[in-house]
Amino acid sequence: MNVPNELLCYCRPGFEPDLAAELLHRGGQLGIDGVDHAERHSGFVRYALPPGQAANELHRGLPLTSLVFARQSLVAFPPLSLDRNDRLSPIVSQVVESGWSFETLWQETPDTNEAKALSGLMKALKRPLESSLKKRGALRRKAGGRRLHVWWSDGDCVQLGISFPGNRSEEPGGIRRLRFPHAAPSRSTLKLEEAWHEFIPIDQWQERLAVGMQAADLGAAPGGWTWQLVNRGMQVYAIDNGPMNPALMAGGMVEHLREDGFAWAPPMRLDWLVCDIVDQPSRVIDMMARWLVKRWCREAVFNLKLPMKQRWRAVHEGLSRLELMLADAGVGADISCRHLYHDREEVTVHVRLRD
Ligand SMILES: C[S@@+](CC[C@H](N)C(=O)[O-])C[C@H]1O[C@@H](n2cnc3c(N)ncnc32)[C@H](O)[C@@H]1O
Repeated sequence: MNVPNELLCYCRPGFEPDLAAELLHRGGQLGIDGVDHAERHSGFVRYALPPGQAANELHRGLPLTSLVFARQSLVAFPPLSLDRNDRLSPIVSQVVESGWSFETLWQETPDTNEAKALSGLMKALKRPLESSLKKRGALRRKAGGRRLHVWWSDGDCVQLGISFPGNRSEEPGGIRRLRFPHAAPSRSTLKLEEAWHEFIPIDQWQERLAVGMQAADLGAAPGGWTWQLVNRGMQVYAIDNGPMNPALMAGGMVEHLREDGFAWAPPMRLDWLVCDIVDQPSRVIDMMARWLVKRWCREAVFNLKLPMKQRWRAVHEGLSRLELMLADAGVGADISCRHLYHDREEVTVHVRLRD
């Protein structure tokens, strides 16, 4: 029987070394000795166990929400090289021989320009693939919510992966596409909106992003993040030497203070702190730790900018230091960090204090 012995993780093209370093590090912590396959600018990384050793346990041990650089994480079979005259049969055989069945089938490609050219091929294969798999019982109505991912890295190279409900991105390609709100002063606005989607279950938005809450935005100008806070009905201290968008200021919900975000202290406890200042990760972490230890906010979203080469190392060190500083101060907090679709050379951190 065919055993899915790999993790297949999607990422932003260019971040393969970071994702590979993360998987090696995290796998190592679990006592797993996998081999990474990471081609620069390919938009994905494979982390392979020895043949015959199923990767399901590893997949459960590294939930997608705990990974920083992975947009999607699948348990995958070894890649297939296809003959252009018959792409269908090897795919169907690999699925049928594995014994796994699925409720849905998604064909996907890396987030690269070259891969966009594969959309015609995927369209042409959709029906024949689905009907063959249905006939063989591998695609059916009830199959534990499992999804089969057919990952095309080239017209003759495909890898089949399995995703499970509760441990996957529900977005094709692991990419959350959001519509740009035209009234927002900058495109950065989408980073905060995506962060909320990522870190706060939608049924908790009413309570955790509530009308009347008090927030601070450090490095706020021209106001993309402040706009999101105001859009939820919050009152905002916008800290920045630069100018804020006049229309946003005219709404009366924002107090603009031309101060240093690293030194400013709020006049009272706030509900939210957000920060998009471009500075060294260690400086931002120290400032966030101060806020959280003093309980100046209950939740925070901030970015760590990553212009350096070893991005996984910088993120891991920064987050470990933050955890340590909070633990030393006896402050309980849940910390998550993800490389979001709208992030570029940066990652987004969310912290929520426990009561
Ligand atoms: C990436 S921009 C923020 C964009 C903003 N989030 C938006 O959506 O429009 C970074 C901002 O940080 C500000 N900044 C840099 N250092 C700062 C500091 N020490 N205190 C306050 N603001 C700072 C800059 O003036 C700049 O406006």
